[in-house]
Amino acid sequence: MQNTATKKKAARLKKPSTVKSTAIKKQKGKSTSKKTQSAAALDPMAVMGISSAYWQSKVLHTAVRLDIFTRLKGRTATAKQLATACKADPRGLEILLVAVVSLGLLSQKGGRYRNNKLSNAFLVKGSPTFQGGIVSMFDSWYPAWGDLYDAVVKGAPVVGKPHDQGPEALRNYIYGMHYRALGQGNLLAKDIDFSGRKHLLDVAGGPGTFCVKFCQKNKGLKATVLDLPQTLEITSEIVGSLGMADRVARRPGNYLTDTFGKGYDSVLLSSMFNQESPKVVKKILKNAYRAIDPGGMILVQDQMLNREKTGPALSALIGVNQLIHTPGGAAYSEKEVSEWMRACGFRKVKTVQLSEPSPFVVLLGEKPKK
Ligand SMILES: C[S@@+](CC[C@H](N)C(=O)[O-])C[C@H]1O[C@@H](n2cnc3c(N)ncnc32)[C@H](O)[C@@H]1O
Repeated sequence: MQNTATKKKAARLKKPSTVKSTAIKKQKGKSTSKKTQSAAALDPMAVMGISSAYWQSKVLHTAVRLDIFTRLKGRTATAKQLATACKADPRGLEILLVAVVSLGLLSQKGGRYRNNKLSNAFLVKGSPTFQGGIVSMFDSWYPAWGDLYDAVVKGAPVVGKPHDQGPEALRNYIYGMHYRALGQGNLLAKDIDFSGRKHLLDVAGGPGTFCVKFCQKNKGLKATVLDLPQTLEITSEIVGSLGMADRVARRPGNYLTDTFGKGYDSVLLSSMFNQESPKVVKKILKNAYRAIDPGGMILVQDQMLNREKTGPALSALIGVNQLIHTPGGAAYSEKEVSEWMRACGFRKVKTVQLSEPSPFVVLLGEKPKK
């Protein structure tokens, strides 16, 4: 999950290499074994960087919570001015700002701070590519991640579902999904052919953003978001704000206990398999199969593991997040999911190569015509 800022920091951390080279020289002088020498040649900062990675996360979370980037939209300010605006302690805020600059998210000249390209694009409210909502969502998960040890030892979640944590947590979660889906939705709408399709069902569709993007791109298409009633209140708000309430319907339902209806020629299952056990995922796939008309299309999108289950790191870490938050969730491999799709009756199952890099794996399949 290395972003640009992380890479920059890792590069900076590598610079003071005197400790490492002195250690190697000493060991060489003592004619140590080849094995010890190669171990010494490894960079201990690789471990240190991972070990302290949450320091960086918390600096970003706090800067977003204080609205630093939005306050700096189109202007520069000193630490003192920002501290007054944020009602924060001047010493505390300046220390935070220095760290934000060091992580590559702000620049500073002559004591005045300004946004850079990265923060302007992703951290200023109102930007079409704003990611602050998902940053706040990760921030809200921080206490639960502190109990990872317990989750691993007990094999059980350490926190309830977002739906059980009050309206604010649920809003953070669904809006986080919305902001995340904006860019990915454009990409999917560009690359997945919906021509001739009339009705898309989005199971556990959350904010409904993918439906909105598909409907905007395909004039003859309407969509239905199936999700829990509490989520759908927020879905209606988002879909309404995008002017698509008449084309994106909301269907209250629990995918664990309810059927999905009938008469859809396409079904989307996005970012919801990894919150459930394989048994539940297969049940959802069976219900999706029943809901789709013959010849209909299934589209599965998730952050999946590779065949060997050695990565990518983001998918593996999402698996850990599911361990913390759900009783049965995990990250699954592309191979596993494709096999489950075929076992439920879908044919022509294939991976779609999107035209731009994306952290998601997208699988397409078809319900046979006869
Ligand atoms: C990670 S979000 C994914 C949202 C959306 N599909 C996306 O990719 O942006 C998971 C969604 O599952 C929904 N969900 C969780 N449990 C559910 C259940 N038992 N029945 C229906 N929806 C559920 C949540 O409300 C949430 O919208």
